[in-house]
Amino acid sequence: MQIPSSIPELRLALRNRGRVVLVPTMGNLHAGHIALMKEARVHGDTVVATIFVNRLQFGPSDDFDRYPRTFTEDCERLSGAGVDLLLAPTETELYPEPQTYQVDPPAIQNQLDGEFRPGHFRGVATVVLKLFNIVQPQAALFGKKDYQQLLVLRNMTRQLALPIDVIGGETVRADDGLALSSRNSYLSAAERAEAPRLQRILRRIAAAVLAGASDFTQLERQASEELDQHGWQTDYVAIRLQADLQVPSHPAAGPLVVLAASRLGSARLIDNVEINPKKGPLTGGN
Ligand code: PAJ
Repeated sequence: MQIPSSIPELRLALRNRGRVVLVPTMGNLHAGHIALMKEARVHGDTVVATIFVNRLQFGPSDDFDRYPRTFTEDCERLSGAGVDLLLAPTETELYPEPQTYQVDPPAIQNQLDGEFRPGHFRGVATVVLKLFNIVQPQAALFGKKDYQQLLVLRNMTRQLALPIDVIGGETVRADDGLALSSRNSYLSAAERAEAPRLQRILRRIAAAVLAGASDFTQLERQASEELDQHGWQTDYVAIRLQADLQVPSHPAAGPLVVLAASRLGSARLIDNVEINPKKGPLTGGN
């Protein structure tokens, strides 16, 4: 794996590399990130990863300073996953002057996670557009674990006519169902044992909706209360349309997803489960 030491060096290294696929990360890589790298390989000739803890997307009370930084281990994992090039710019290289030109996503940036992390999606969209311009990939991969982020970036790419395929990767989970996240390292042993409840509750809601439950507000409230009774502080549990993350006007308005964010100890965990009817034997296949 090549690690160009500057943006111009990366640009040189990317000449005549065929179809380039980009996987942006903030490092502290786990199996979820690595699955994206492997998936990237399927979509192109050259896989470029980036590691950059993007200050712009962290609020003043967020965890920017203590966000885990594990560069040496990350490099080993990336090269083991067959990544061709890694860009890990310093802050002064990526933001040599104050980033006063920013991407301001539409109203969705103030809902769900955006309601609790003001400015977060502006910071994400800005750094990703900048990475797109630096790497100029033909495709980019983002995890469905950050469902709203994927939607914001997909819509940005389409509306700004960027010639990039935005591809969503499935969420990778631990054996007990907890979605892998760099923030899981903030959990104590007892909190780590409690953490899979989030995903269990989301799956239960998905099953209830598939079985015909239609009072979404009640399902959301019950889930939030159950979490809080077990020591969580819940920001939201929300059943939304997969297509635009808006509140469905009626239960059959379109494919749904249930999303949640809740704090356990000092970790803020997010997760989601798509509510897709299981394909029966007569509807599956071709
Ligand atoms: P980060 O949290 O490091 O995640 C990098 C990518 O890995 C994102 O696309 C994220 O959705 C994906 N990912 C994280 N956990 C995953 C899991 N358990 N399964 C599958 N994919 C997973 O998301 C960011 O960084 C930043 O916001 C970034 C896009 C890099 C912009 O700064």
